[in-house]
Amino acid sequence: MKIILVGASGTIGKAVDKELSARHEIVRVNRTSGDLQVDLSDPKSIERLYQETGAFDALVCTAGKVHFGAFDDFTPEKYAIGLDNKLMGQVNLVTFGLKHIRGGGSFTLTSGLLNDDPIREGVSAAMVNGGLEGFVHGAAIVMPRGLRINLVSPTVVEESLPVFGPFFRGVKPVPVSDAALGYAKSVEGAQTGRVYRIGWSRDQ
Ligand SMILES: NC(=O)c1ccc[n+]([C@@H]2O[C@H](COP(=O)([O-])OP(=O)(O)OC[C@H]3O[C@@H](n4cnc5c(N)ncnc54)[C@H](OP(=O)(O)O)[C@@H]3O)[C@@H](O)[C@H]2O)c1
Repeated sequence: MKIILVGASGTIGKAVDKELSARHEIVRVNRTSGDLQVDLSDPKSIERLYQETGAFDALVCTAGKVHFGAFDDFTPEKYAIGLDNKLMGQVNLVTFGLKHIRGGGSFTLTSGLLNDDPIREGVSAAMVNGGLEGFVHGAAIVMPRGLRINLVSPTVVEESLPVFGPFFRGVKPVPVSDAALGYAKSVEGAQTGRVYRIGWSRDQ
């Protein structure tokens, strides 16, 4: 398969690259490096990306920024970071990608646990992750040409603890290679409309 990996240089993206590159062709896309560049917050940049990639079999996105901060410091501009980047950036990858993806292909997006397991600084992340779940459930039932769409929702990964550890006290991390398996299942399996929760469950 020809797989476009947006966020390939990131912590999760590198693990997904390692998992999938043994079996597939990977087109690595980042904001500033890689085979191609895109700015998720700019719809025109996403349209341009697909002019450059041409036809493909799967799109995996492991990129998406949100603002973290105290609830009473949030402003419309701070909410807009997550909405424009992690939510609409990934929605627009699907919207524009539909014209270029081959029949039977798949889209795999990334959320996280904070909509079900919230933290103080994570109100925007919770909102965006919930929006992504709704989008994936809604889109899966109307995908044309046998196309599939799934969401991977990892818990915090061990490799990110130096940065995110203080936000996630009491949360058991998983190795990022575990998170990568969710993407392999989505791309190489047959399911659609699923949320693959990696390292956590809604019962916790
Ligand atoms: N790490 C975790 O423990 C964890 C757990 C659950 C969910 N998540 C979610 O998973 C996603 C990736 O997390 P991560 O820790 O792997 O991130 P990361 O290491 O910071 O990597 C981010 C990646 O996204 C790219 N990127 C940044 N801004 C972009 C933009 N505007 N347009 C396109 N690409 C952009 C970066 O490219 P450049 O290097 O060129 O900027 C990089 O490849 C995030 O949405 C995060 O919320 C992470």
